[in-house]
Amino acid sequence: MAEFYSDEFIEEVRLNNDIVDVIGEYIKLEKRGSNYFGLCPFHNEKTPSFCVEPNKQYYHCFGCGQGGNVYSFVMYVENLDFLESLKLLAERANMQLPEMGSLLNKEKENLQKQLFQINLEAARVFYKSLFDSSNIVAQMYIKNRGLTKDVIKKFGIGYSNSNWDTLSTYLLQKGYTQEALLQSGLAIKGQNGKLHDRFRKRIMFPITNVRGNIIGFGGRVIDDSMPKYMNSPETLIYHKGKELYGLNIAKNTKQKRMLIVEGYMDVVSLHQSGIDNVVASLGTALTQMQGRVLKKYSEEVVISYDADSAGQAATMKGIDILNGIGCKVKVLSIPDGKDPDEFIKKNGPEKFKLLIEGAISLVEYKIRIARKQLNLEDMDSKIGFLNTVASILVKVENNVEREMYVNRISKEYSISVDSLNAEIYRLAEGNNKKQQYKLMTVKPKVIVKDSKKNEINRIIQNEMLIMAFICNENSVFQLIKERFKPEEFSDVNKATARVLYDRLTQNKGITAAELLNIIDSKYASVFTTEIQRAHSDGNVEAAVLDVFRRIELDKLELLRKQVSSISDNEGDVELLNQLLKEIRLKKKK
Ligand code: GTP
Ligand code: MN
Repeated sequence: MAEFYSDEFIEEVRLNNDIVDVIGEYIKLEKRGSNYFGLCPFHNEKTPSFCVEPNKQYYHCFGCGQGGNVYSFVMYVENLDFLESLKLLAERANMQLPEMGSLLNKEKENLQKQLFQINLEAARVFYKSLFDSSNIVAQMYIKNRGLTKDVIKKFGIGYSNSNWDTLSTYLLQKGYTQEALLQSGLAIKGQNGKLHDRFRKRIMFPITNVRGNIIGFGGRVIDDSMPKYMNSPETLIYHKGKELYGLNIAKNTKQKRMLIVEGYMDVVSLHQSGIDNVVASLGTALTQMQGRVLKKYSEEVVISYDADSAGQAATMKGIDILNGIGCKVKVLSIPDGKDPDEFIKKNGPEKFKLLIEGAISLVEYKIRIARKQLNLEDMDSKIGFLNTVASILVKVENNVEREMYVNRISKEYSISVDSLNAEIYRLAEGNNKKQQYKLMTVKPKVIVKDSKKNEINRIIQNEMLIMAFICNENSVFQLIKERFKPEEFSDVNKATARVLYDRLTQNKGITAAELLNIIDSKYASVFTTEIQRAHSDGNVEAAVLDVFRRIELDKLELLRKQVSSISDNEGDVELLNQLLKEIRLKKKK
C-alpha cells in the first residue's frame, strides 16, 4: 500500500515533522549537548538512555537498542502500520494526502490543481506582456539591469502591466471561478465587489516548487515606489517558510555546495553568470524547513547575504539554523557592493567565484565578528574576546579542527595556547557527560549468536555501517562505489543501497534518516545503531575499508562453512584448502 504514495511525498512528510517535536509530544526530553535525552518509551528505565538526534533526525535507545526515524517511532509508540503513521504525520504537519480520502480532501485537491493552473496561466500572461510593445518601460528596466533573453526565459520572468484587471479578466474568461482567483492570491476583491489584480506595474518572478510547478510570484517595482517587492500571500500551494527561490533549477547543479542569497535578482544574476548552484530564501529569514531542504540537495551551504547589517544579522541566524540541523556551513562576505548581483556587475563572475572559494567556516565567521569588538589596548576587552572565542571553540567537536583554530588564534592575537585551552576545558566540563554516549570507534557488534547467522547478521550490519558512513561523507562513496556495487549487498540492504548509490551518482545528497524510509522497518533499529557507530575520530576512509574487509572475510567464512558441509560428504578438500588460504591472506592484510 505504501507505494500508493510517492517517495517524494513520504520524504516531505518526514521533513515536515521534526523528530524532536514529535517525540517531545510523547516523552519529556532534555537537551544535552546537541542531542535530547529522555526515558525510553520502549523499555522500563529510571535514568534516560533514549537519545534523539535533531541533526540526523533519528532516535536511538542506548538501553534497549530500539531506534529509527520519525516513522518508526510513531509506528511503535502508536502501534500503527506504516501507512497509518504516514497519515498521522501528514495530518500533524497540515499536509494533504495526495489521493482518495474524504470529500473535503477531494475538493481541496481540486482547488490545488486549479491553483497550479492559474499560476501557470498567469506566468504566461506576464511573460508575454514583458515583450509587448506597449510595455517599453519594463523592457528598459530589464535592459538596465542587464538581464539576457535566455535568463528571462529560464526563470520565466515577466511583467504585470499597469491596468487594474488584465489578469483577473483573462482568467475569469478562461472559466476559473472568482473564488479560485481569490484563493490564488493573484486577485483581490475591491470595495465595489469586483476583482482586481494584486500585481500591477511590476517585474514578475515566478516562484516554483522543487517539482517545477509555479506556486506564487514575487513582483518588483520598476521605479522607486514602495513596497519594492511584493510577494504572493500564503495559499494552499505556497508556504513561504518552505520554498527556496530557484531550487528547481539549482537542484540540477553538479556542484556539491549550494549558495543561499537574499534576493530574486541575486539568484537570476548569478545564474546568468554561469553560477548555477544558488537559491534565495524568499525575503524571509531562513527557516529550519528550508535548511533541511538545502541539506538534502547539497553537502555544504554557503551563505551569501547582503553586506549590510540586516544581511549580517540574517547570516548569524542562518548559520545557527543550518548548523543546528547538522549542515556544513560557510560564509561568503562581499567586499565591494551591497549584494552578489551588484558585486558581479562591478567585478565579473570570476571574481565572485574566488569569493566562493574564499568563503570562511562558521567558526571563523563568529570569531571575525567577535574580533570587530576587540580593543587590543584594553585588557578587559581582550579577556572578553578570549571568553567568546573559547565559547565558540568548545562547540567544535572535532579535536584536530579545534586544535588548529587554537593554534591559529593564539598566534594571531598573542594569547597563549595554554590559557585558551584552559578556558575551553573549563567551559567543556559542564557538558562532558555526553561523551560517554559517543561511540567513537568502529567495533563489530553481533545481534544473534548462531553459527551461520553470525556472519549473515554481521554482514548486514557492516553493510549498513558503510551506508551510514557514505551518508556522512561523500568521499567514502568515491572510495567504495567501484569495489562494492549495490547488487553485491545482502538482500535486506539491496534496495537501500541502490537508492543511495543512485542519489550520489546524480550528485544529490541523502541523509541516513531518509534511508530509514526505505529500509525494512524490522531493521530500522539495527540501522540506527550503525548510524550511531558511523563516527570515526581518525581516518574515515581507513575505517570504511576496514569494515569492507570484514564483510569480505565474513563472506569467505560463510562460503567456507558451506563448502565444508559439502566437503564432509563429497570430500572436496582442495576447494576448502583454497578458501582457507584466501581467508588467511585477507586476515593478514
Ligand atoms: P534589487 O533591488 O532588485 O536588486 O533587489 P534585491 O534582491 O537586491 O533586494 P533587497 O536586497 O532589497 O531584498 C532582498 C529580498 O528581500 C528581495 O529579493 C525580496 O525577496 C525581499 N524584499 C525586499 N524588499 C521587500 C519589500 O519591500 N517587501 C517584501 N515583502 N519583500 C521584500
Ligand atoms: Mn540587489
